[in-house]
Formats: sequence, C-alpha cells, structure tokens
Amino acid sequence: MRYSAAAIVAGASLAAAQVPAWGQCGGIGFSGSTTCVSGYTCKYSNPYYSQCLPGTASATPTTTARTTSTTSTSTSAASTPTSTGTPSTGSGLDAKIKAKGKLYFGTAVDQNTLSVSQIDSIVKAEFGVVTPENSMKWDSTESTQGSFTLTGADYLVNYATTNGKKVRGHTLVWHSQLPGWVSNINSAATLTSVIQNHVTTIMTRYKGKILHWDVVNEVFEDSGVMRNSVFYRLLGEQFLDIAFKAARAADPAAKLCLNDYNLDYASDKLTNFVALVNRLIARGVPIDCVGTQAHLIVGNGAIPYSSTYISQLAGTGLDVAITELDIRMTLPSDATKVAQQSTDYTNVVKACLGNTKCVGITVWGVDDGHSWVPSTFSGQGDALLWNSSYQKKAAYTAVSNALN
Ligand code: XIL
Repeated sequence: MRYSAAAIVAGASLAAAQVPAWGQCGGIGFSGSTTCVSGYTCKYSNPYYSQCLPGTASATPTTTARTTSTTSTSTSAASTPTSTGTPSTGSGLDAKIKAKGKLYFGTAVDQNTLSVSQIDSIVKAEFGVVTPENSMKWDSTESTQGSFTLTGADYLVNYATTNGKKVRGHTLVWHSQLPGWVSNINSAATLTSVIQNHVTTIMTRYKGKILHWDVVNEVFEDSGVMRNSVFYRLLGEQFLDIAFKAARAADPAAKLCLNDYNLDYASDKLTNFVALVNRLIARGVPIDCVGTQAHLIVGNGAIPYSSTYISQLAGTGLDVAITELDIRMTLPSDATKVAQQSTDYTNVVKACLGNTKCVGITVWGVDDGHSWVPSTFSGQGDALLWNSSYQKKAAYTAVSNALN
C-alpha cells in the first residue's frame, strides 16, 4: 500500500492549516494551505498539482505552466540519411531490454537532433525505436487544411528504415500543436471528416512501417475530466471512435495507442483513463495499447509505486508502453539529486520489466542539451540519460544495470 497508517494518523491529528500526508498543497486553481505536516514537504508534481510527500527536501512547489511551442515546418526537401549504421549492438539499452523479453528501448528524435553526429551515433548504438519528437504533429504535417507537409516525418521514417529502427508514430489527434484552422471548426460533421482525412493521409503514407501509433494524445485534464478540446466539444467521446477506426482502416499492422501523462500516481485522472479505455474496448473501438508518458520529477514519492500504476493500466488487457520517460530535477544538480534520479530511473525500468503487458520504454530525447524540459519547466532540467556533452550519466548506468 502506498499510504502508511502512521502517515494518515499523523496527518489527521494536526492543525487544519497544515496539509496532511499525501494531500494537495499547490497547483493552478488551488487555494488551500501550502504547508505540509511535519516530516512532509510540498513537492511539485505538475502545473495543477503539488503534493505533500515524505521528506524535508528543499524543493519548493512551483506553478510554472507547461507550455508548448509551435514547431516550424521545414519546406525544404529533407535529405535522406546516408548512414547505414547497424541495429542496436549487444550492449545497448535496446539489446538489453530485448534480452528481458521486451520489444524495444526507444527515444524521441527528429531531423534537427539526428543531424548532430553524437546523437546519431548514440541512437544507432542504443535504441531500437524512434519517436518523432515533433515532425508528425498536426501543426507540422497539415498546418493548412488539405495541404500536407511530410518532409520532417519522411526524414524520421527514412532514418528508421535505413538504420534498422522501428517507429512509434506520434501523434495524430491532440489539442496541442494543433493549427488554428482545426480549433476553429464549429461543425461536428466537418470535424469528423477532417479527423478522418488527417489520420488516413498520414497513416497511409507510412503504412506497414510503424510499430505503434499514438492515435490520440492527452484527452484528460489534470483533474480527470475529459479535456475541453475542439474534438470533445463537438463530438464528445466519439472523436476517439472516429480516429481509431480511421487509423485501423489505414494501417491494420500498426498497434494503435491512447497516450496521456500523469498516469504515474493514484488520481481521478488515472481512474478515469482506465475507465475510458475499458469503454472503448467494450464498444469495439480498435485500440491495442495505452501509453503512459512518464514525465517525472526526481524524488517524487509515487515513483517507487510505478509497478502499481502500470498494473492498473495493464488491467485493461491492452499493451502498455512507457512513451516519453524523463525524470527532471530542479537545477543546479547535486550528488543527492543524481543519486535519487538513478534510483527513480531504476524503479521505472523495473516496473516495466515486472509487468508482462509493458512492451517497451521510450525516453523523451537523448541528451540534456536537447531536452524539452528546461524550456518548458522553468529552472528544471538534467532529466535524460546523457548530459549536454553527450556523456553517459549515472542515470544511464542505473538504467543499464536495471536491465541486467
Ligand atoms: C514536446 C516536444 O518535446 C517539444 O519539442 C515541443 O516544443 C512540445 O512538445 N507530451 C507529448 C509530447 O505528447 O509530444 C511533447 O513533446 C511533450 C509532452
């Protein structure tokens, strides 16, 4: 059990102004106390939720909102990668996780990062799957209605094919990095055909070349209610049915996934996510896998319980993929944080290894110098397995050892 009886009693017996153990102590829209009971510290979990976790760490909660920047679409012809690197070698993370019976260890890249020779070498040696970090998103692929720009996506898929890697397609229907012309649609019939055309066009282009597709991404708000996106406003839950059915028809070989974040701890969001997936299955929507992004924070008290939350996702009967793993810290780094990060990565990797439904792990980038974290979460970083000089970090060693 995650909650110790002692912690609950301690929390209940103290003054109301103090937040009890494991209680909420911050986040956008939260107006309660930010002071935890003795022995607990208010730790940032996500923009909408800070929680009283065991310990007296000095990290202060922050309400920095997660923002996303728009990806500019390259209009120049993508050069085809010429390298003929071999698939993952025996000592790389992908080879090691395969030896444990999993399908892959992957990372997120695109032409910009693959063009860095050190990153290219690391990807070739260590990873078996590549996820396009931005190039398959709606603003990159169909920024104008009916006009598809797939140079960046083509580059990524060509790289994978050339180098013996598989691809996790990411992502077709998402409220973020979505062009205004889609958000401004106000007819359910129009939006239905727009979704069908978008899904069908992109998936048909890469038919037979994609292992997993994150068909739909982030349909829940942090509170656990369905996100107020244009898709949900106009179509209700049916937008999922529409997208997944179009996806299955376009590429029957691809495993179709629903992906979301903050599924790493007990919450209404996790409960409602599982319930939604079960409803989709019950009504025959073609869905094969769930993706848990796992953008985590060093020292988060939920991480040791990752196996519990993966089990809840696996309870749907679908495959589970850890799709965007990174574990960030408040900078500057120090020895304590580095050690904790190694422990945290170990816990997450072991949680996947320990569940037969968990098929693979993707880290969200290769090196700290190209991670989305510093520009998204103010003051935080050092979340990945290689540092910005492309040297393996302690976290890499921890992951590698966890795969032994
Ligand atoms: C991020 C990319 O890493 C950034 O480069 C981009 O500016 C914003 O999006 N959840 C997702 C990913 O599903 O697509 C996001 O990727 C990170 C959060």
